[in-house]
Amino acid sequence: MAKKSTRFVCQSCGAAYVRWAGKCDACGEWNTIVEEALPAADSPTATAGKGGRRIDFSSLKGAPEILFRLKSQIGEFDRVCGGGLVPASAILIGGDPGIGKSTILLQVVARLSQIVNREGRPVRCVYISGEESVDQVRLRALRLGVSDAAVELASATNVRDIVASLDAGPAPDVVVIDSIQTLYADTLDSAPGTVGQVRAAGHELIRLAKRMGFVLFLVGHVTKEGTLAGPRVLEHMVDSVLYFEGDRGHHFRLLRSVKNRFGATDEIGVFEMTDKGLAEVPNPSALFLAERRGNVSGSCVFAGVEGSRPVLVEIQALVAPAGAGTGRRSVVGWDGNRLNMILAVLEARCGVVLSNRDIFLNIAGGLKIGEPAADMAVAAAILSALFQKPVPADVVVFGEVGLSGEIRAVAQPDLRIKEAAKLGFARVMMPPRRTAKPKEAPIKATEIGHIKTLADLFQ
Ligand code: TYD
Ligand code: MG
Repeated sequence: MAKKSTRFVCQSCGAAYVRWAGKCDACGEWNTIVEEALPAADSPTATAGKGGRRIDFSSLKGAPEILFRLKSQIGEFDRVCGGGLVPASAILIGGDPGIGKSTILLQVVARLSQIVNREGRPVRCVYISGEESVDQVRLRALRLGVSDAAVELASATNVRDIVASLDAGPAPDVVVIDSIQTLYADTLDSAPGTVGQVRAAGHELIRLAKRMGFVLFLVGHVTKEGTLAGPRVLEHMVDSVLYFEGDRGHHFRLLRSVKNRFGATDEIGVFEMTDKGLAEVPNPSALFLAERRGNVSGSCVFAGVEGSRPVLVEIQALVAPAGAGTGRRSVVGWDGNRLNMILAVLEARCGVVLSNRDIFLNIAGGLKIGEPAADMAVAAAILSALFQKPVPADVVVFGEVGLSGEIRAVAQPDLRIKEAAKLGFARVMMPPRRTAKPKEAPIKATEIGHIKTLADLFQ
């Protein structure tokens, strides 16, 4: 019997089947299964078992080679990459269309082209755009003031052409592919942007990057649901995954590392979108607190930590009588379920009535907070709005709230306190310490063990 040369792959989750079906059993989506050609015979999965080369095993002990890193000198960017770019690594940059992915990468390669690589030669940077023409990229470079940089541009979408061109010239040090969704491998029938195409193109380029030793940036657009559609399948193939986040209505942008084989994850870099591209924001707390007015009710400053970096943000709450029935709840920048939990804890443990109120919560500046450590600051903002009693302007708050109303310790209290002190705050409300107090406290700390204690401060 002739060997089957195609398979059926779900475009939503990547599950593979031998025959077509209307519904994917793995993710439950309908009409997402598409026929695709099987990987070529030279792919790693096709050669398993047959006459392989013997590999040498070694022990865990031994002096690891110190990683050489290319530093773009854009501090915020280098930190998110774990202190610089590691040669022969692949980095996926995801984000909404228009958030600034092409802009930051052009700025980064322009800077990189001015330094030297491990061999002491100028870093060779190649920027391949599948979305914009060479002229469009030039225009952007002009706007960013980097037209003089020795970056090599090309507009291409065929993976075979790209691989052949990179292979032919002197080995590049950094290659940007903008974006992976526009590429197509002519070995597959499916359209650019489908899971099969993204996987094939990604695999091909990543293999080339490992072989030739260059840093590969793959740009991937995110869908509205907030996941990397298509590029999702690349997440496990690449060495690092960075997300570029931000609110279109605000000027600042966050670069967040969610995976990094060569450094810490959850690290953030903060940038501001200006008319000359992205500018670094070395002190994000000052930016997020810039428009804060002291002594208004419903406002509380939360001392947060993003990755290794402390960030102070203002949490705003508004409590208003509801029209009829139960009140509305509306949240921007925080988890709605988490807000409902805090409201339930306040009602059950402190006896305040909130069900007949409309409640709005906003993280000022457009930042999105994922830390449970913001719980107590949210509770304080709501209590302050409800009783119309301001949280003193020199107070910062952090701590997680448990269902029985207890305030739980959170990671890195001293880092948070230090940042608050740096920005001129004089007092902190925090959970009871699990470990010994530091001898010299930079600001006055009030330990709060239960949410009732917090509520009593406002009533
Ligand atoms: P871009 O990098 O093209 O986004 P992506 O590649 O993620 O799709 O960013 C485009 C947006 O950034 C666009 O709305 C205009 C804005 N922008 C500036 O505000 N200043 C600038 O200097 C540049 C180059 C872009
Ligand atoms: Mg772009």
